[in-house]
Amino acid sequence: MTHSEKYQKLAKVFTPASPVEDRSLFAGRLEQLASLWQVLDLRGMHGILYGERGVGKTSLINILKIILEASQTAKDLIVAKHSCYSQDDFEEVWKKIFQEIKIPNRFMVGEDRSQRPAARLDGYTRLSSIIKDDYTYTSREIVRTLSNIRVDKVVIILDEFDRLDSRFDKKLFADVIKNVSDAHQNIKIIIVGVSDDVNSLVGQHESIRRNLKEVNMPLMPPAELREIVLKGLSLLDLRISDENLSTIVELSAGYPYYTHQICYHACYMAIGSDKIFLDDAAIKYSIGQTIQDSKETIRHTFQGATMANQKNFFKEVLYACAICNTDEHGYFQASDLERILSRILGRQAKVQQFARHLTKLSSPERGNVLICYGNSRKKRYKFTDPLMRAYIQMIAYTQGVAP
Ligand SMILES: Nc1ncnc2c1ncn2[C@@H]1O[C@H](COP(=O)(O)OP(=O)(O)O)[C@@H](O)[C@H]1O
Ligand SMILES: [Mg+2]
Repeated sequence: MTHSEKYQKLAKVFTPASPVEDRSLFAGRLEQLASLWQVLDLRGMHGILYGERGVGKTSLINILKIILEASQTAKDLIVAKHSCYSQDDFEEVWKKIFQEIKIPNRFMVGEDRSQRPAARLDGYTRLSSIIKDDYTYTSREIVRTLSNIRVDKVVIILDEFDRLDSRFDKKLFADVIKNVSDAHQNIKIIIVGVSDDVNSLVGQHESIRRNLKEVNMPLMPPAELREIVLKGLSLLDLRISDENLSTIVELSAGYPYYTHQICYHACYMAIGSDKIFLDDAAIKYSIGQTIQDSKETIRHTFQGATMANQKNFFKEVLYACAICNTDEHGYFQASDLERILSRILGRQAKVQQFARHLTKLSSPERGNVLICYGNSRKKRYKFTDPLMRAYIQMIAYTQGVAP
């Protein structure tokens, strides 16, 4: 392969800016795939896939769509996926879904067959092309239209549901879910977003709670992050030592987004210098680049949180917050930091000495980099932007702060 061919391949294998669209590049997440698959088989059930951004939700549903379409029953199944935009209202969302519903022509019946033949392409017809001009986008009408499609299953996936704002009427949407759950088993809806979406939807119609199965997308476990690195490297004919592999996995802190980012830069350097090994220099370079590539808001918040006109140790406290163990939701307590901070500072650090720092880091004065929950007896902290944890770990790594 020439250099330029290698770079081209690299851009397809490690894609920090875009979700996975190729099954061979998809790692792990079998449990979540199985849960969503199950939803499709359960009568009257729909799914909500939720998790923080950057954990791989869009990638997962891309692969779910590919697997569904390639499955045995695919001939009787339609999958339509739409990514929501903040300005979308209820009507706009359904217009776009109708554009994505491509009905194989053999399933078109009666009057539908004769309509707008120009819209029939490659053996299928878009549902949007057979919708009459005076169509009214009410919950009832939408459910009626969907239930008229004569296939075994229509799976509608709405990604980025959390982007929708008050312009989108959630009550009408909850009505659609209620209706199809009660009467139309062939229609399945999967919503992808954050956990608040579950409550905001159920709040409209308490009775739909039992129709929604929540599937949590947790941070990616280390073994699955390793799989991403190794799969990608084998496609690029590159190798890595166990130690450097562990560094990438550790610094990714559960986010495949960072794994792709670090690997992209490290491979870029290795290809440029005709090496087949991602050596220490490549790893160091890639982490520096990944820090630089981080979102402006993250860099800005970090700077604000750690600024020092006089000698203080906000930076060290923040390092300790990023490195310490947390519960599964990302929370930690002040006492969890004592041991780590003592090591970073090279002297004993007690909670009383840094409690004030945690309070300030959870206030606008230090950019609200942390959020504090609980009362004065038991306070728990968490990073406001979960991606900050990995960002700080990378900075700590470049500055030689041992984990
Ligand atoms: N299972 C996976 N295997 C390999 N790469 C993944 C996987 N899940 C996510 N990624 C990568 O992680 C990044 C974020 O994924 P994405 O699906 O966009 O997350 P989300 O939709 O939760 O924000 C992308 O670069 C994507 O390529
Ligand atoms: Mg996404």
